[in-house]
Amino acid sequence: MSTHNDNHQLLWGVLLGSLVTASSITLYLNLSSSKKHSPRHRRDSLDSNHLCPPGNIRGMEIVDGVDGLIGNTPLMKIRSLSEATGCTILGKAEFLNPGGSAKDRVALNIIKTAEEQGLLRPDNGSTVFEGTVGSTGISIAMIARAKGYNAWIVMPDDQAKEKYQLLEKLGATVEKVRPVSIIDKRQFVNLARTRAEEFSKDGEASKEAQGYFADQFENRANFQIHYQTTGPEIYRQTGGKVDAIVLGAGTGGTLSGISTYLKSLLPGLKVFLVDPQGSGLYHKVKHGIMYSPTEAEGTRRRHQVDTVVEGIGINRLTQNFDIGRVHIDDAFRATDEEAVKMARYLVREDGLFVGSSSAVNCVGAVRAARKLGPGHVIVTLLNDSGQRHLTKFWSDEYLKENGIPYELKDEDTIDTIVR
Ligand SMILES: Cc1ncc(COP(=O)(O)O)c(C=O)c1O
Repeated sequence: MSTHNDNHQLLWGVLLGSLVTASSITLYLNLSSSKKHSPRHRRDSLDSNHLCPPGNIRGMEIVDGVDGLIGNTPLMKIRSLSEATGCTILGKAEFLNPGGSAKDRVALNIIKTAEEQGLLRPDNGSTVFEGTVGSTGISIAMIARAKGYNAWIVMPDDQAKEKYQLLEKLGATVEKVRPVSIIDKRQFVNLARTRAEEFSKDGEASKEAQGYFADQFENRANFQIHYQTTGPEIYRQTGGKVDAIVLGAGTGGTLSGISTYLKSLLPGLKVFLVDPQGSGLYHKVKHGIMYSPTEAEGTRRRHQVDTVVEGIGINRLTQNFDIGRVHIDDAFRATDEEAVKMARYLVREDGLFVGSSSAVNCVGAVRAARKLGPGHVIVTLLNDSGQRHLTKFWSDEYLKENGIPYELKDEDTIDTIVR
């Protein structure tokens, strides 16, 4: 008996030993072959088609560069919201992307598409310009570094200061401007377009360097990457068992891409927009007209969307939103107070530390659960982490100064937070 066991153990030992040796050799070959790559070689391998292959959600494989870390994010059950509503509320953990948000997908696809169209070539001083409230800029700066471009980011000067700091650390040029209306040529998106044109005209083009305006609001590559990756991932992760999607919209690329993909497979799926205060999209969906009550009341404090929430809410119709507008079944609002308290509730109940747009999404998920009733599966996105919002959305001083109630009482529940 003992001899039989010894032989058995010996056999397993030999087998295990060979496996370990084979894996070590593969690992060594992978590492040594990647060492031989010139920087250009590695840059050429960046490709949104190489987002982790299907099924390999955060798997064991070695990925090739930062782009290998983009996408295939986990889908997390938010226990507190699920228990409180009787629905299964799932948040896609986009904050786990290497640049910290879903915008990594978009930045990679915008740059890759421009390269395919011959509008950008790396390693010759070419510069990607973008007007953004931050997240897209951070993703563009990261991909630009990896691919051999410079990044020039134009931003309104009232965003959380950690975003400017991050951009600078990533080597981007940051141009801060006063928030003004979109009809003003100094508005951050308009100015980014102008800067790209100036760059190409000012003789840089003769040195082959090109200025490329990423234009996330109107660029279809934004919608497309969510259609090609985020939507299919949600379908696979839920096995197609999803009753509703709830999302806020900035450019609208996420909402349009995911809903266009999922509705083609699940015609019964409900798509809900959740809109922060000061944004006109809620009214656009409900009544066909872009309108925010703060315009009529004359109480608007800012030129952009009048909210503490960053990244979502807008007062114009963009192409990326318009592509998927037909799929939106209904819209909800979320106040600043609801978003702030929701974020604090998620930390208290789940240990989940999210940014402002994710908190709005969760308010929307609760409203969707109430509308549909218990037993439904509702998916939303956790766009970025609270770490990017410490000095504004997560700052008690900032909220106090701006008259936004933020204190969560022990007795507060989802029913007192989302009214
Ligand atoms: C943190 C964050 N969440 C959500 C969004 C909205 O995504 P989309 O532009 O696809 O509507 C953005 C857009 O900038 C963002 O920065």
